[in-house]
Amino acid sequence: MEGQRLKYNFPENFWWGAATSGPQSEGRFNKKHRNVFDYWYDIEPSEFFDEVGPNIASNFYNSYKSDLKMMKSIGFNSFRTSIQWTRLIKDFETLEVDYDGVNFYNSVIDECIKNEMTPVMNLHHFDLPIELYEKYSGWESKYVVELFAKFARKAFELFGDRVKYWTTFNEPIVIVQGQYIGEFHYPKIVDGKKAMQVAFNLNLASARAIEEFRKVEHNKDGKIGIILNLTPAYPRSNSKEDLLAADYANKFHNELFLDPAVLGKFPDGIEETLKNDGVLWEATSEELNIIKSNKVDFLGVNYYQPIRVKARESEFDYSNGWFPDKYFEAYEMPGRRMNPHRGWEIYPEAIYDIAINIKDNYGNIPWYISENGMGVQNEERFLNAEGVIEDDYRIDFITEHLQFLHKGIEEGSSCFGYHLWTPIDCWSWINAYRNRYGFISLDLKTQKKTIKKSGYWFKEVTENNGF
Ligand code: BG6
Repeated sequence: MEGQRLKYNFPENFWWGAATSGPQSEGRFNKKHRNVFDYWYDIEPSEFFDEVGPNIASNFYNSYKSDLKMMKSIGFNSFRTSIQWTRLIKDFETLEVDYDGVNFYNSVIDECIKNEMTPVMNLHHFDLPIELYEKYSGWESKYVVELFAKFARKAFELFGDRVKYWTTFNEPIVIVQGQYIGEFHYPKIVDGKKAMQVAFNLNLASARAIEEFRKVEHNKDGKIGIILNLTPAYPRSNSKEDLLAADYANKFHNELFLDPAVLGKFPDGIEETLKNDGVLWEATSEELNIIKSNKVDFLGVNYYQPIRVKARESEFDYSNGWFPDKYFEAYEMPGRRMNPHRGWEIYPEAIYDIAINIKDNYGNIPWYISENGMGVQNEERFLNAEGVIEDDYRIDFITEHLQFLHKGIEEGSSCFGYHLWTPIDCWSWINAYRNRYGFISLDLKTQKKTIKKSGYWFKEVTENNGF
């Protein structure tokens, strides 16, 4: 690319990298506790694609040194993973730590820094300890909120001297949807009222962790944020009814976490709606004050797909009780572009809409794309003679999304980075290893890791800070 004029030039010090999480990459080696997914796999392995569980995952626990080197070799200057509550803490109440966990995370952080990659550490990626569900009903409990704040505090004290970018939760709305609505996270409860209490408690837990963060001296030059999956809701038409449906969908899917995190308050009207429907969460004024006073410093945005909605055409079915989709219905827009492997729409334009929304309605808070990506099944189909997966579709996907991100940045949105999901193909909950997302492929049988064509392409992009 040398000598060529770069058409899409990104801001100085732009983050280029990718994200994974502890439970999806490390494997369960030496872990003393189980999270809800470890437990679910132990009791119901058939619920997981090909019955592959999190036991080995991508072996990051054992191979992190060479894995991080490989990431560096394709140009990363930053990398996100998560600290597992179930690995770091031996006793959730007394906060006794597990020294094997402490040593492991210390070493991962030091290796990142040695490889000149900014470590971004997340504290919760769907991995609630199963004991805390069994003893206290997990995120339904305010006591678990406090235990999380204590765990977060411990992590800040142990690692905050070197980790300068922290995030409290990854995609908290997915915990609400998976555990309490859609039955894709253990314990697969179907209960809209509980779902709303959990949404409140997760917002509170994030704010409490931020409160603890700000008490730790060596965090003074650090920053804390949250990772939200933003799925802009587009209406079928401009009719009053469809616009209202999209407004509700945005409130429940996006603003329920975005507004408390960035603005310190819940979206206008949502508490009234929930109250009228008899499903409003229990919250004290002290808790609302904690949310108000502990906003994030930055935002991580996971963007995969938009949602398209219309006003309800059928009566809402109350047989399972109340749910947010009382107020809208999914709309299958004719002609939409789909990723057939994942069943998700591909709509890069939404990244621009997100960028402008953050700029105009959220004080232009610094933010970055913390996940974006394309999951594809059976990628071995694209192996070339040298054993490299030629994933041109991924290169095209990233290029298009970066183009719309660039347009948002040019118009003043303060985006400071782009991370792909994920560096090395990793384990993905009930989908296990079905869809592959990485710049680096993983041979599950041998654990051999090989850079894909997209990885080599990304290296050039990072070297040029654009394309
Ligand atoms: C993201 C999650 O939303 O999607 C990741 O943060 C997950 O944890 C990724 O692995 C891909 O999910 P899936 O189900 O397509 O493999």
